[in-house]
Amino acid sequence: VNSKPCHCVYLMEFSEPGIFNYSTLLLSETRDALFVGAREAIFELSKKNVTVQWTVAEDPMLMCTLKGKSQERDCLNYIRVLQVIDDDRLYVCGTHAFQPQCDYLNLADFSLHGQPEDGRGKCPFDPSQSFTTVMVDGELYSGTAYNFLGSEPIISKYSPFQSLLRTEYSTSWLNEPSFVFADVIREGRNKAYGEDDKIYYFFTEVSVEYEFFGKLLIPRVARVCKGDLGGQRTLQKKWTSFLKAKLVCSMPELNFVFNVVHDIFILKESDWRDTVIYGVFTSQGNVGLSAVCAYNMTAVEDVFSKGKYMQKATVEQSHTKWVRYNGITPSPRPGACINNQMREQNISSSLHLPDKTLQFVRDHPLLEDPVLPMGNGPRLITKDVNYTQIVVERVRALDGNIYDIIFTGTDKGVLHKSVVYEEGVHTVEEIQLLKNSEPIKNLLLSSETQSLYAGSDSGVVQSPTAFCGRYSSCDGCVLARDPHCAWDRHTAACVNIVDAVGHQPGNLIQNLHGDADKCPSVSPPSVKDYHHVTVKPGSSVELRCLAPSNLAQVNWKSNKTALTEASRFHLIGEQGLLIYSVGQEDQGHYECWSVEWAPAARKNFTRLLAGYILTLDLPPTPPQQTGQITTTTTLSSKETSSTHAAEGNGKTDGAPLTSALAPPSFTTSVLFTNPPQADSSLTPPPSNTIKIQPRHHLPPSSSHNNSIALLLLFLLFFLLFLAALAYNCYMQYLPAPCLRMRAALLGSQKTVHKPEYRACEAGLIEGSGPDKVNVAEEPTQNGSQSTQNLRALRDTGYETEPECGNGQIPSKDDSPSQEKPFDVDCESQPIQFADADEPYC
Ligand SMILES: *[C@@H]1O[C@H](CO)[C@@H](O)[C@H](O)[C@H]1NC(C)=O
Ligand SMILES: *[C@@H]1O[C@H](CO)[C@@H](O)[C@H](O)[C@H]1NC(C)=O
Ligand SMILES: *[C@@H]1O[C@H](CO)[C@@H](O)[C@H](O)[C@H]1NC(C)=O
Ligand SMILES: *[C@@H]1O[C@H](CO)[C@@H](O)[C@H](O)[C@H]1NC(C)=O
Ligand SMILES: *[C@@H]1O[C@H](CO)[C@@H](O)[C@H](O)[C@H]1NC(C)=O
Ligand SMILES: *[C@@H]1O[C@H](CO)[C@@H](O)[C@H](O)[C@H]1NC(C)=O
Repeated sequence: VNSKPCHCVYLMEFSEPGIFNYSTLLLSETRDALFVGAREAIFELSKKNVTVQWTVAEDPMLMCTLKGKSQERDCLNYIRVLQVIDDDRLYVCGTHAFQPQCDYLNLADFSLHGQPEDGRGKCPFDPSQSFTTVMVDGELYSGTAYNFLGSEPIISKYSPFQSLLRTEYSTSWLNEPSFVFADVIREGRNKAYGEDDKIYYFFTEVSVEYEFFGKLLIPRVARVCKGDLGGQRTLQKKWTSFLKAKLVCSMPELNFVFNVVHDIFILKESDWRDTVIYGVFTSQGNVGLSAVCAYNMTAVEDVFSKGKYMQKATVEQSHTKWVRYNGITPSPRPGACINNQMREQNISSSLHLPDKTLQFVRDHPLLEDPVLPMGNGPRLITKDVNYTQIVVERVRALDGNIYDIIFTGTDKGVLHKSVVYEEGVHTVEEIQLLKNSEPIKNLLLSSETQSLYAGSDSGVVQSPTAFCGRYSSCDGCVLARDPHCAWDRHTAACVNIVDAVGHQPGNLIQNLHGDADKCPSVSPPSVKDYHHVTVKPGSSVELRCLAPSNLAQVNWKSNKTALTEASRFHLIGEQGLLIYSVGQEDQGHYECWSVEWAPAARKNFTRLLAGYILTLDLPPTPPQQTGQITTTTTLSSKETSSTHAAEGNGKTDGAPLTSALAPPSFTTSVLFTNPPQADSSLTPPPSNTIKIQPRHHLPPSSSHNNSIALLLLFLLFFLLFLAALAYNCYMQYLPAPCLRMRAALLGSQKTVHKPEYRACEAGLIEGSGPDKVNVAEEPTQNGSQSTQNLRALRDTGYETEPECGNGQIPSKDDSPSQEKPFDVDCESQPIQFADADEPYC
């Protein structure tokens, strides 16, 4: 899409005014088009963008609203299924006001056939319910709910050649599943055992096998055989090959389990034994961790073909428990696909399977053996994100090795690009794909166009898979360790190796171990190039410096000594160094260094990124600079290191999208606005570059410091207020409530007697449920403690209680701090005290 060398990254967004929920995507490489299913509309996005509307007629809409569903939300037609039938037609289904319908979409004139079929079981009734579908050889496999209430889950096959095949309606088959994904794994050309192709389903369901006080969720993989026809007597029109197993994604060493699967990507290879299944998981409690686990297809297959079955056992009469089945399993193996061995026994289809096998598989669909992840743990664990989608691309790097590149989408519209290296996984990019912070609902990868497509409630975004163009130096390009990117010596640009096929390989520099030694040396900025910054004493200044890549660490030095966070009024943030309240002692040289660990070279690559000379602007102040000072001065490090300044943008560049992307229709927009490289003059960066720096990128601790200052200020005012109040109260300037308080504090000592106190206490006991034991016991032990108790009780909101509580204080041995200041006044106010107090106690 965008292969011309450019220091920006183009994202394309599509949305149509008034249309939402662009969550169903279908790529057609043959037509070079993306089909999008949204609410009441289907789009074909290509050179000629076309739309077809599919709205709900009045009758079904009325029915839907009569059933208590919302007309604006539920009773619309959410397109949920888009599948290819042949070159000319798509099969499309929509929720259609809680009466799912399917139809054929003619691609020649992009119109619906207009003879809708019942979509029950192919498409959910409820747009918010989970579902999955896959079209295999003209037959539609789906996982969804079969009824209006959404309480009957079903995994089924709709075929033009045979009747519906489905799961039993039983909790041992499916127990409140959330469907995530389904796809076919072909046996491939060398079907040595005459095995059938298999369709795998992935979902999270409520476990039956674990005892738990709530509903414990379990991620599952289930499998059916493509050639299944159901049983002859047992399991008529039901799957005879439905088996399911637990998918494990956990950190055993920490005893932490990721038990909710959100999306699956199957990285297919020509031989299924090389196929790898990738999944994104979170945990049920949602502690802000997301994980990616990878599964070897061979391991999955082994569980289904050799695993032990589980069975329901009744313990203590009514209580059932799932335990391992240790008996003899019937032959042929229950749930197995038909293979040559069975054919030799005259079993050529599931209709010929013996009843014993069928009964067994009906009652034992769950396998005990779990599917363990490769490496026995997650490939990737990320803090503070919820991954919603995943796609994976296999790339052959210049070193000839193959790397898996994991793209994950989050619930905040962010895309992460992570690379699996030998020593672990690194996230090399973080990009705000969606302009709104909303979930990525669907993510597709087109290796052909090197593009990603992300669907969300508000639109579809197309993004390249690599952002090499934003590394403007060789070091940055190589240290990014992105298998897509290499530095071209000739053009002095970081290029995508896929686009660079024409380039001479000798000219490309790439080192995925992060060894940038091969890079032509660049002289670092020298002191005479340092940027001069002059600020007024007491103002704050930000010295900008962006990390050149996601893996780099930025260090600051002032006058050659390293700055730490602990330094006075200094704050090292993502965007640079922030100095609050610049003083005399802050003057001097500031240098921003990046440190990047290169595992291959076993050393740190250290580079000077930017240098500043900070001087105080002592009065008289030239008017030009005051403007800079009133706001936080933001300075780009462009001049001092024009080759590095722009590289770090990706990590934090949510904001440019907001300004740049606009509906409707495929609009091209700039994500990363970098200063033109050739421009190394000392002119300040264009104003839009400054605007891009969003406020919220100030590290959180700065607001922390501010809030402490605010708190102190607030405390000061509060104390002043209290003093004023006390004084006014003391001087009797304030009316009754104050007098009461005053009376309570001053005059009570001598006038409160035991009986009164008891009365108060009784009142309190009556009014204060569970604390009554404490109240009844404690006054006898310790006065001050009981005061505490009574004070706590006062918070119940009775206006009367303060007097009761206070009345009790003096009855015990004086607490001088409270009495002394008012001692003199005590006797002069007895009457008022009595007046004010009596009605309450
Ligand atoms: C459809 O999109 C709207 C608007 O963004 C959103 O509020 C709603 O939750 C979406 N509905 C579904 C079923 O995704
Ligand atoms: C999967 O496991 C099998 C058997 O252990 C092994 O031969 C194969 O190489 C593995 N595949 C991958 C992609 O690791
Ligand atoms: C299979 O069927 C053929 C012909 O119907 C019969 O001759 C043969 O004995 C059968 N084999 C088995 C194992 O039942
Ligand atoms: C993840 O999702 C959960 C629930 O949907 C939410 O409470 C939490 O704040 C999210 N975490 C992040 C980091 O977005
Ligand atoms: C740097 O050195 C200058 C002169 O030697 C001194 O005045 C200044 O306080 C120093 N600044 C810092 C931040 O150490
Ligand atoms: C490399 O840099 C990191 C981060 O500054 C530091 O922790 C580490 O000790 C350095 N390693 C070497 C070998 O210098």
